[in-house]
Amino acid sequence: MAHNLESLLDKMWKDYVAINPLAQKVYNLFTTRGDSVLNDHIALRTFNHPRVTVDVIAKPFLDAGYKYSGDYHFTEKKLYAKHYEHKDSTKPKIFISELRLELCSKELQTTVNSLIAQIPQGQETQFDFSSMGRPWKVTKETYQSLMKESDYAGWVAAFGYRPNHFTVFINALKSFSNITELNSFLKGQGVQLNSSGGEIKGTPEVFLEQSSTLANNVEVEFSDGKLTVPACYYEFAKRYALPNGQLYQGFVAASADKIFESTSKGQ
Ligand code: NI
Repeated sequence: MAHNLESLLDKMWKDYVAINPLAQKVYNLFTTRGDSVLNDHIALRTFNHPRVTVDVIAKPFLDAGYKYSGDYHFTEKKLYAKHYEHKDSTKPKIFISELRLELCSKELQTTVNSLIAQIPQGQETQFDFSSMGRPWKVTKETYQSLMKESDYAGWVAAFGYRPNHFTVFINALKSFSNITELNSFLKGQGVQLNSSGGEIKGTPEVFLEQSSTLANNVEVEFSDGKLTVPACYYEFAKRYALPNGQLYQGFVAASADKIFESTSKGQ
């Protein structure tokens, strides 16, 4: 069990690459070139149910020295998100989004409430809750009905509390001068990128460019059997300096609406 930030981040990475071995492979491709890999951010997903809001999920990170640093609305996906930064800038930013249940159907709300009701009382406040995985039982049918309305809700139902993605900070990769070069290298290595909305989301003008792999498919054990479903992706972020000379540390809502589609069915 993870009790401090270092061990929590380490546990999250190990769990993430166990589900998404491609991330470890890509990581190794970078280190083989002599690059050192820094994480730009780790993305976590939840619902705005009072027991598991962004603020509840963020609490252990705040206790470990993170500070609230910005919030975002993703209207198309019905999401609200906040990001947190650590004073040690080599620590990844933590990006936590929540599905706004009041904007979803009554059926979805009832289903999600019944999942959350299964979380043992108080477990959501444990330090390493965001690396515990799925704290409820869910059937294939429930997963599939959630997916029809919101692939985000389906993902959280199937995978629970664990990173949805890690993100490589491109600026720290000395062997790539830009994101296009990085994307070409990855494609040359047979890595498929998410091209929904174009391979590169964002522009230097909005101070952030991102690309990502497609989510891999994994077999998940539901309470009534197994199903192969989209899991996690690996993301790449290039940041640009603001007019004051500081690198932009925020996120761009318009780009992320597209990035969220990396875990949609059928891509
Ligand atoms: Ni991201």
